[in-house]
Amino acid sequence: MADYQGRWQTVDVKVDQGIAWVTFNRPEKRNAMSPTLNAEMIQVLEALELDADAKVLVLTGAGDAWTAGMDLKEYFREVDAGPEILQEKIRRDACQWQWKLLRMYAKPTIAMVNGWCFGGGFSPLVACDLAIAADEATFGLSEINWGIPPGNLVSKAMADTVGHRQALYYIMTGETFTGQQAAAMGLVNESVPRAHLRARTVAIAEKLLEKNPVVLRAAKHGFKRSRELTWEQNEDYLYAKLDQATLRDPEGGREQGLKQFLDDKSIKPGLQAYKRA
Ligand code: COA
Repeated sequence: MADYQGRWQTVDVKVDQGIAWVTFNRPEKRNAMSPTLNAEMIQVLEALELDADAKVLVLTGAGDAWTAGMDLKEYFREVDAGPEILQEKIRRDACQWQWKLLRMYAKPTIAMVNGWCFGGGFSPLVACDLAIAADEATFGLSEINWGIPPGNLVSKAMADTVGHRQALYYIMTGETFTGQQAAAMGLVNESVPRAHLRARTVAIAEKLLEKNPVVLRAAKHGFKRSRELTWEQNEDYLYAKLDQATLRDPEGGREQGLKQFLDDKSIKPGLQAYKRA
């Protein structure tokens, strides 16, 4: 098993029983996303994607923050002071992991929002497949409070998850909201007391670990792309995904599932996953 201890300066990675725990690790800066953190997160996601021991990825934060958003000093002020072209590279790195890699990641992803979650943090939050928040977490689209409209893909992330009125309310007022409010508006799947956050996240991860990974990937990619395609295009795309999953699946999940239900009568797929060998 790969040992990631100390490999990155701003991100901590541990793989344990199939779950890759990826922790933003700048608690003294409320895990603000600096250019270093963005560059390191690209490396982390690429390394874990090829690590067979990492089957479900959980993204969380050290200390009392998930992330306080983009680093106002290192990502904005210091980059503004540098050569203009540098901004291209710095923005590209941020987009590369915060939504491009993460949104269509090859493995299931869960955002475990333990605390502060502001501004730029909403892109990776929504790019993760699932999100569980602590009731005590505080969310906010604070950009308006310090003089910019939401940057990166934050507005798109809101538009994809939250209703029109609520999205505009928080974008325009910069008011904060709680984990429970985030759950009520569909920004996260659910909110639980912080004391139960890890256990609940592990329980969801374990459910995903029971499933066929190739089929999980096809299912999540199919769903995410389907928002952007027409019904006609979706018919082609989703059937292609379905055939791709069946063709690529080394464990023959579809045959297993059919056999266990129709012949062995050992499972009811309406109620449980087929038993993987
Ligand atoms: N960028 C850069 N530094 C940040 C930061 C950010 N987004 N968020 C926090 N920090 C730094 C602070 O400057 C401070 O650094 P210092 O100790 O060198 O002075 C340190 O982290 C602790 O922050 P502090 O404000 O003292 O913590 P707090 O617990 O009292 O408040 C927040 C936490 C998250 C409410 C507050 O830090 C905040 O409002 N941060 C900005 C959030 C934001 O607008 N993000 C959107 C960016 S797109």
